[in-house]
Amino acid sequence: MNEPDLRGASAGAREHYERALGLFRLYSGDPLAAADAALADSPGFAMAHLLKAWLNLLGTEPAGIDAARAAHAAAVPLCSTAREKGHLAAVGHLVDGRWHDASRAILRVSTDHPHDLLALQAGHQIDFFTGNARLLRDRIARALADWSADMPGYHALLGMHAFGLEEMGDYGSAETAGRRAVEFEPRDGWAQHAVAHVLEMQGRTGDGIAWMRDNADAWSCDSFFAVHNWWHLALYHLDRGETDEVLRLFDGPIFGARSAVAMDLLDAAALLWRLHLRGEAVGDRWTGVADNWQSFASAGNYAFNDVHAVMAFVGAGRPERIAEVMEAQDRAMAGTGDNARFTREVGRPVVLGLKAFGEGNYAGCIEAIQPVIPIANRFGGSHAQRDLLDLTVLESALRLPDPALARAISAERRAMKPDSLHARSVFERARAISMSS
Ligand SMILES: [Fe+2]
Repeated sequence: MNEPDLRGASAGAREHYERALGLFRLYSGDPLAAADAALADSPGFAMAHLLKAWLNLLGTEPAGIDAARAAHAAAVPLCSTAREKGHLAAVGHLVDGRWHDASRAILRVSTDHPHDLLALQAGHQIDFFTGNARLLRDRIARALADWSADMPGYHALLGMHAFGLEEMGDYGSAETAGRRAVEFEPRDGWAQHAVAHVLEMQGRTGDGIAWMRDNADAWSCDSFFAVHNWWHLALYHLDRGETDEVLRLFDGPIFGARSAVAMDLLDAAALLWRLHLRGEAVGDRWTGVADNWQSFASAGNYAFNDVHAVMAFVGAGRPERIAEVMEAQDRAMAGTGDNARFTREVGRPVVLGLKAFGEGNYAGCIEAIQPVIPIANRFGGSHAQRDLLDLTVLESALRLPDPALARAISAERRAMKPDSLHARSVFERARAISMSS
């Protein structure tokens, strides 16, 4: 097996580093603490600095950027092999917000070193944050030919490949690969999640609830993706109109701990927004979510986060915070990183649409968001997350009403998810409006 470069590491530091990679592979525990332990032992360990940088960057936390920049600076004089320099270049691009350049740089590393799981995982996460379905699948497919089932970490390859297959619409192959990955490693929350996406996209809510509930202890225990996977379970219940269960999940594993982590806040805001679209009463739940988004309002580092912050600020009735996000977006759009484009092309129009929805300006909402839907992958996330845009436009069309548009969008939805109860019910609702107008 082609081991990564571990120059500058004592035996102890190497052990800490391998433990960090093992935790990162499962998105579990505290890999950053393990990377720090490796560096405390061996400050000249280049790959440990680079791992630390990756771990700080892949959560899209504004606070992680400075820590990653410092780790990158520490690694600069230590890197000498092509692989180290490849990681260094990719991290350097990402620290400065050049997502696409980072993607290309780390793809070169995994092309030359297909067993470099850190390069594959970092690249896969970049593909997720840039909504690059083709690379979500093929960055992994390229490396899989050099892997076999008896290699440690094989489950992670299968899980990533499964998610890429799903985002490319190859649901059968995705489900097979994802289920196989979970058989190898039941704690692989990303593989669990890939199958959850297949079942979501196909509207197979019964299968989805069974898939998530049957081994919840394995995927939810000490996992960075636990909240997101609980959110997927909540979506199945929401599809079935089981609002009480959705709220139980929200008050429990989704937002019971009031996490202030960006990845968790995305799910909290998105779930409440879906309830909001349905006219469901959510009590004062927006307050806590909006409070936690507050520190992101002026960050402007990732348009996908801005949009979810604005959902919370619309829900909680905080127009001054929406204005703050838009000012941060103005600065982002004037900047040089890829987020300038994410914001200009997708993030800003969506913020305007959500704001309009909150003001009851349904025509304005449709006008802002509808043109963006076919290109919304450019600001990242998954099809399931971006479905929120379709749902918002559909609800606006129903409320306006624009019977023809409501009927068209709900027909599109029913064709994609014939087994979804919600898709069928909105189609009926659109048809009723259409007939009465
Ligand atoms: Fe997901």
